[in-house]
Amino acid sequence: MARIKTAVIGTGFMGRVHTEAIRRLPNVEVVAVAGLTEELASSFGRQMGIPRTTADYRELLQDPEIQAVHICTPNALHYPIAKQAVEAGKHVLCEKPMTLSLAEAKELLEAARKAGVVHCLNHNLRYYPMVQQMRAMREAGELGEILVVQGTYSQDWLLYDTDWNWRIVSKENGPLRAMGDIGSHWMDMVQHVTGLRISSLCADLMTFHKTRKRPKVDVETFAGKTLRPEDYEEVPIDTEDYGAVLIRLGERARGCFTASQVNTGCKNRLQIEIYGSKLGVMWNQERPDELWIGQRNSPNQIIVKDPALMLETARSFADLPGGHGEGYDDAHKQVFRRFYRKIEDPSAPVEFPTFEDGVRGMLLLEKILESARKGGWVDVE
Ligand SMILES: NC(=O)c1ccc[n+]([C@@H]2O[C@H](COP(=O)([O-])OP(=O)(O)OC[C@H]3O[C@@H](n4cnc5c(N)ncnc54)[C@H](O)[C@@H]3O)[C@@H](O)[C@H]2O)c1
Repeated sequence: MARIKTAVIGTGFMGRVHTEAIRRLPNVEVVAVAGLTEELASSFGRQMGIPRTTADYRELLQDPEIQAVHICTPNALHYPIAKQAVEAGKHVLCEKPMTLSLAEAKELLEAARKAGVVHCLNHNLRYYPMVQQMRAMREAGELGEILVVQGTYSQDWLLYDTDWNWRIVSKENGPLRAMGDIGSHWMDMVQHVTGLRISSLCADLMTFHKTRKRPKVDVETFAGKTLRPEDYEEVPIDTEDYGAVLIRLGERARGCFTASQVNTGCKNRLQIEIYGSKLGVMWNQERPDELWIGQRNSPNQIIVKDPALMLETARSFADLPGGHGEGYDDAHKQVFRRFYRKIEDPSAPVEFPTFEDGVRGMLLLEKILESARKGGWVDVE
């Protein structure tokens, strides 16, 4: 059987994660990679065993053999690359957040629909088995009416003013950093699990470091810790380190969450708590195979991932038996598998986040910005 030929654009953290996850699928082949420079592309190609490399992604978009592309570049490049890719008839799997603005996201969705290509926005974190278990429990009515949601997405990798990354620069990242980079995942997850949409919100944002020390040499994600003082210059910062948002979901549910890149000791703590009229559930990305279940009239439980014991609709998101951990890389595989199944068989269900979810995410980010600037509640719909 001929395998689907795909290309990865971007050779950083996500370029590697995507390449490895694609290779776990039997029906897809990574045939090429595009980097910012020839050197970055060929070094990545050597390390990952991809023979065809280029510094110009457009070359790959013109190749009729390549059917799909993965966009793993800084955010500002998502829109121009994805637009050209869908116009060239490629199926597109794009990293989040979708674009720099809602207007760009809407335009991109329209272009993808017009081209009739399969489009996916990589909210991979939905596809941890125990997140799917929470969703299946809600769908089965086990949680009752959703009353309260709360949580956080907390990291500490930008705690010091010497920590640097392209995400700090609004031109490359977009105007919201903690909210756009990680808050977007939390909002996507809470809506996916509860089936409710955030209907209004009130946001408070904070930039603790008004200036940061920018390295005079290039650094990639999580690599800034080795630079020396003479390698930096002081620059003003216009993206937030932290944000807190009060939210209303649907008609009656209420909640709040924080997103922070300066929470000392937190590495990748996406915690989500959902309290229904019958049960509460809590999940933490740092302990992904566990799910806390809170009960009013009997002892609380911590259940561990075991496909044999999971609800039917969540089971297909767990590939390994109980006691065999499934984590971040596995969640990517689950998304990519379903994206490529849809490319192979257009009648397959859309069991992955699409550009429509990306537009929704950009709408929420724009509302967060509007709320923080005016200092009060804003309606989303
Ligand atoms: N879904 C997730 O869990 C997750 C996690 C981390 C990052 N992301 C998203 O993935 C994207 C990439 O983030 P990252 O952490 O990998 O960043 P990174 O800095 O590690 O990698 C970005 C790469 O893009 C390359 N690049 C820049 N311009 C290019 C061009 N014109 N052509 C080809 N390559 C180019 C850079 O050289 C770099 O290798 C971002 O949009 C980010 O929000 C998603």
